Amino acid sequence: MQSSPLGPSTDSIHAGYEPDSLYGPINTPIYASTTFAQNGLAQLRGGYEYTRVGNPTITALEKTIAALEGADFAVAFASGMAAVDVVLRVLLKPGDHIVISNDAYGGTYRLIQQIFTQWGVENTVVDMTDVDAVAAAVKPNTKVIWVETPTNPLLSIVDIEAVSRIKGDAKLVVDNTFASPYLQRPFEFGADVVLHSTTKYIGGHSDVVGGVVCGKHELIGDLEENLRFFFGWVGAIPSPFDTYLTGRGLKTLPVRMERHCDNAEAVANYLSEQDQVARVHYPGLESHPGHEVAKRQMRRFGGMVSVEFNTEEQAKKFCLSTKLFCLAESLGGVESLVEHPATMTHVSVAGSALEVPPELVRISVGIEDEADLLADLEKALRAL
Ligand SMILES: Cc1ncc(COP(=O)(O)O)c(C=O)c1O
Repeated sequence: MQSSPLGPSTDSIHAGYEPDSLYGPINTPIYASTTFAQNGLAQLRGGYEYTRVGNPTITALEKTIAALEGADFAVAFASGMAAVDVVLRVLLKPGDHIVISNDAYGGTYRLIQQIFTQWGVENTVVDMTDVDAVAAAVKPNTKVIWVETPTNPLLSIVDIEAVSRIKGDAKLVVDNTFASPYLQRPFEFGADVVLHSTTKYIGGHSDVVGGVVCGKHELIGDLEENLRFFFGWVGAIPSPFDTYLTGRGLKTLPVRMERHCDNAEAVANYLSEQDQVARVHYPGLESHPGHEVAKRQMRRFGGMVSVEFNTEEQAKKFCLSTKLFCLAESLGGVESLVEHPATMTHVSVAGSALEVPPELVRISVGIEDEADLLADLEKALRAL
């Protein structure tokens, strides 16, 4: 596919969908149909036969996301984890090896460690911000290097281009969930596969779970075909209604992301100045070790901020003291959220190489008024 000549704000609204000639609906219709009438024996009308293997509502979302990522194709899934599982099963066989970050999403690590290990896939956990450590971990049977950047929950920045230079025959998969395709386009830096939990910024309203895998034919010739086979056989498809919601959210991705970034910058700056705070992790801060790399590979620095308090008690109390920042897992929605990774999202990696410090609080900064968010944080800090 030729890279779109249009900007991301235009593509997020227009790419992948044309009003049809019958009624001209401005929005993608929700094709709530499991099956499609055929003109003759095995003669499909518009290429669709059964929704588990394809549906026009799903196709429209896939095309929009592919355009935003600069990909040839995207395949939508019922969740981010379904996308992770299927892409790993397409790229790995028993006897293969995967290198994964010590700061990856806990669910991805759990899947690799607890399920893929049983099927004979080895893994090595490394600090992906250290490219020499990644190079040292790559072996002749390494088939996948799994990168998240910014990482969850420490917001470390991985230099995608540097990792792509040392990947050898392995495929470089980038989970781009935290940045969104508006802020970062990993194919431009050497990624072979890009994946999202669309549950987060792409959907953007905390009302729908989904995932997507994007690829380019010149990089992995049979990826689309294999993803669609596995996905059709496994049936990990999003419903047309869920897909519609995700596509509806996606139309405002660029404006939402600008506001998320404005607010997150203000929150990171504010928290950096507070006595109870030992350290703020935000790639937009000049003090962040990945700031220069983030400037190179991201448009702006995102809506996630992680904060280390001086004590675990302060971290927990802070999570219970905010009002506008709702105590909840997940991220990337319009509303601000706060959570304690060690006891919530990352509890499953306790005791492993991915364990997170108990003083850490993760904040998903929403798009509310900045002054109200800062006032809420101030009140919560006063309660410590
Ligand atoms: C970076 C990242 N990747 C993948 C996932 C899994 O996505 P889902 O919850 O949509 O299955 C998550 C979920 O939090 C995530 O944060």
